[in-house]
Amino acid sequence: MGCFPCLGGSNKQSKKKINSSNNQNNDQADSAADTLETTLNDDVKNEESKKAVDQSVAVQQDTNYKVDRDVRMDAIKATSFTFKELQYATENFKPDNFLGEGGFGKVFKGILKDTAQVVAIKQLDRNGGQGIREFVVEVMTLGSVDHPNLVKLIGFCAEGDQRLLVYEFMPLGSLDDHLHGPRRRPIDWNTRMKIAAGAACGLEYLHDKMNPPVIYRDLKSSNILLGEDYYPKLSDFGLAKVGPTGDDTHVSTRVMGTYGYCAPDYAMTGQLTFKSDIYSFGVLLLEIITGRKAIDFSKRSRDQNLVAWARPLFRDRKKFYQMVDPVLQGQYPVKGLYQALSVAAMCVQEEPSLRPLVADVVKALDYLASQTYDPQTQRVQNSGRPTPSHRPDVNDNEQNVS
Ligand SMILES: Nc1ncnc2c1ncn2[C@@H]1O[C@H](COP(=O)(O)OP(=O)(O)OP(=O)(O)O)[C@@H](O)[C@H]1O
Ligand SMILES: [Mg+2]
Repeated sequence: MGCFPCLGGSNKQSKKKINSSNNQNNDQADSAADTLETTLNDDVKNEESKKAVDQSVAVQQDTNYKVDRDVRMDAIKATSFTFKELQYATENFKPDNFLGEGGFGKVFKGILKDTAQVVAIKQLDRNGGQGIREFVVEVMTLGSVDHPNLVKLIGFCAEGDQRLLVYEFMPLGSLDDHLHGPRRRPIDWNTRMKIAAGAACGLEYLHDKMNPPVIYRDLKSSNILLGEDYYPKLSDFGLAKVGPTGDDTHVSTRVMGTYGYCAPDYAMTGQLTFKSDIYSFGVLLLEIITGRKAIDFSKRSRDQNLVAWARPLFRDRKKFYQMVDPVLQGQYPVKGLYQALSVAAMCVQEEPSLRPLVADVVKALDYLASQTYDPQTQRVQNSGRPTPSHRPDVNDNEQNVS
């Protein structure tokens, strides 16, 4: 796949998944999915899936199941539910409980009978064979993570040909809904920076704290879910990849992800690196700052792709004010805007080696999130245009990103 589909040359909706089949050889991290996927496909045939999945889980727990030659996964902590239990929880998938729909199926709100816990239940589309792999990866990856900025997987159901995932319920929905949804309400600058910092923290956990490290591969605003007080958590690890080990710098994979967020280098070569996630993070940060979609087909063609629209503006500091979301009505700190844009610009650089490491992004955004802006006491920008006296110098902008 060339880079153009990712950069807005496609007519497909931004939600549409990218899935080409280049570089399937050496796809070492998929072997885990393949192993369990085979188990699940066999299950579908013999109708004893739940039992078999339970056995797969037991294998993991008992023998620290080997994912591939070099990599071991932690034991899965998620609970196995029956389909009947999830039917009960969602009142038989009642339309009133419908929360949304993505590339792999519908999501419903539910209440678990035994614990009264409110959950979100994703029912994988049974027509899309692709979903089985994502299901397995999701159960394996999310079942073994534990971080405040990652959505918890409570359990799963694999019964007959049904595949469902049960997550903690995130009451404020997705960041995408808040930025672009029909009932969008403006999120203030401080909250935006906190959301960005929390998302970076979740990504840092995947890249730097998990063993083996994980490349997220599907970072986007619809996968940032919000709890009380807009507390952000990353969701959907269905596309996650176990990262390179040893001296390797990348894993080769089928190109997957979402238009507009996909790094051009990954789209062109299929070589997935941690820097592919950093590019997607840069797009997300731009979205948070500007309120614009990663891909927006309602705009004229040269403005449809957010990064392509932003690149010329990055080059001219005097134009930075044009990039801030107009719904903020000038209520943002000029210096903070410049610094946030600096981070975004570094993350979306064409050359992957020039993009920062996630730890540096976390540092920069933690700093920005700590700089509380108060429109009562601090200057509100008229029509977003900063006065010369409020323009920070170059060093100010780059001091927090290494
Ligand atoms: N844990 C959750 N709590 C509350 N709402 C959720 C939860 N998970 C998903 N949703 C809602 O369901 C919608 C669809 O989610 P889903 O992950 O299926 O699709 P998506 O993120 O838009 O695309 P993709 O399939 O690429 O992830 C979300 O936008 C969100 O509004
Ligand atoms: Mg999602």
